[in-house]
Amino acid sequence: MVSMKDLVAFCKRKGLIFPSSDIYGGLNGFFDYGPLGTELKRNVKNLWWKNMVQDREDIVGLDSAVILHPNVWKASGHVDGFSDPMVDCKVTKARYRADQVFYAPIAVAGKLLGCICVTDGEERDADVAKKVKALLKAHNCSQEKPDEIHLKPLTEAKPEEFALIPSPATDKPGDLTPPREFNLMFQTQVGAVASEAGVAYLRPETAQGIFINFKNVVDSTRVKLPFGIAQIGKAFRNEITPRNFTFRSREFEQMEIEYFLPANETLWPNLHQKWIEERYQWHLSIGLRKEWLSFDVHEKKDLAHYAKACTDIMFRYPFGVQELEGIAVRGNFDLTQHQSFSGKPLEYFDETLKTKYLPYVVEPSVGVDRTVLALLVSAYDEDEVNGEKRVVLRLKPKLAPIKAAVFPLVKNKPELVEKARELFSRLQKRWYTAYDETGAVGRRYRRMDEIGTPWCVTVDFDSLDDDTYTLRDRDTMQQTRLSEAELTAFFEKQLQ
Ligand code: GAP
Repeated sequence: MVSMKDLVAFCKRKGLIFPSSDIYGGLNGFFDYGPLGTELKRNVKNLWWKNMVQDREDIVGLDSAVILHPNVWKASGHVDGFSDPMVDCKVTKARYRADQVFYAPIAVAGKLLGCICVTDGEERDADVAKKVKALLKAHNCSQEKPDEIHLKPLTEAKPEEFALIPSPATDKPGDLTPPREFNLMFQTQVGAVASEAGVAYLRPETAQGIFINFKNVVDSTRVKLPFGIAQIGKAFRNEITPRNFTFRSREFEQMEIEYFLPANETLWPNLHQKWIEERYQWHLSIGLRKEWLSFDVHEKKDLAHYAKACTDIMFRYPFGVQELEGIAVRGNFDLTQHQSFSGKPLEYFDETLKTKYLPYVVEPSVGVDRTVLALLVSAYDEDEVNGEKRVVLRLKPKLAPIKAAVFPLVKNKPELVEKARELFSRLQKRWYTAYDETGAVGRRYRRMDEIGTPWCVTVDFDSLDDDTYTLRDRDTMQQTRLSEAELTAFFEKQLQ
């Protein structure tokens, strides 16, 4: 598997993803997608939309505002409860999420020497070993073996333990503030005059825009339960410790479905399972590696108070197995809250049962950026061609930023260049195509392999006589001679 360091460098070098505001030193937790990254991301969103909305009869789309009435977030529970526990190092001013900082008392033969404290991440175990060694040395017991070490998150520290726990930055006890709750919503002001009444929030999820439009959609379309409303859009969370590249960022995109069903305890378990399977198959269909996908079924005790069940689809990123998509059953918590806070009836009239109720909902919710990252990790490959290392992005053709590249065999033969440019402009009208005449053909192949272009088409001297071209495949590197009609029929079939 590619390392994060190599992947981040690759993304910048190839114009996939840049740190945002790069020339100003970047802004932690924000990213800009470059020319190729924009295409890749757009292809992911378009495919999700096609598969989840346009290919089905039971899901309709929505595009709600990013800034909603502030009461939406009071009703949803985000104003009071959408927070993470945070601690600060008083000396270095470093800020940590308390559940991502771990501490352990270190004792030798039952005698407590002190505590160590480390941050979560790839280096955690190495850090623990280093800090234990330093503590033993400071107590002149380098030769002793410490008692068993139990790392616990700071959120589990008792108040009386806190004074003993050092800051992970300074290793000095007392340098950390006690944990306090930090609301993750970005605040802004609506209107010209800054006042308490004008406070609004950038949405931390697209889902609430769907709930508040439930009645509008039911009244304006012919949907009948069970049916879904889908939305793709930006979400914003002021994450305390954004990290792992785009995995946990402060501005990201979500693709969410709220799938409404009758409020009936016997119906949702089946439908939940169907959605878990459906979404898992989708991730396989876009090319995520099967061996790196798994499930995390949340235990009842870990569920949010309004959730009836939740299963996450997990992906093995280079920094560990982490959530890619959450599929929760939210009961009718959100509709109930919005009905109560807005004072507007949101019930659905069930014509079969001749009764009104607030439907339940199953919510498959996936991040676009996490999907793109998982795709890049799955597709990135290195092999050897004629003794030379080749980087190849084995993306499914449907998702590849550029579908085909046209090359004249050499650039100093005007008749080849003219024929290649004509072919390029015809193909370009149908698929995103590149034209490249610089350097040896082998080099041009490598450049296209690296950015995942599935096919290269070379115009050579035979093309001038018989109107056929060499089609070269990115993965097999095999070459086939085809006419333009055969070429376009092949692309059509592969990309449908
Ligand atoms: N409406 C439900 C909801 O928002 P969530 O688990 O908080 O649930 C859903 O988020 C998905 O959004 C996650 O599975 C992940 O793919 C993506 N996501 C959440 N926070 C993110 C962040 N800070 N950066 C990138 N993606 C994020």
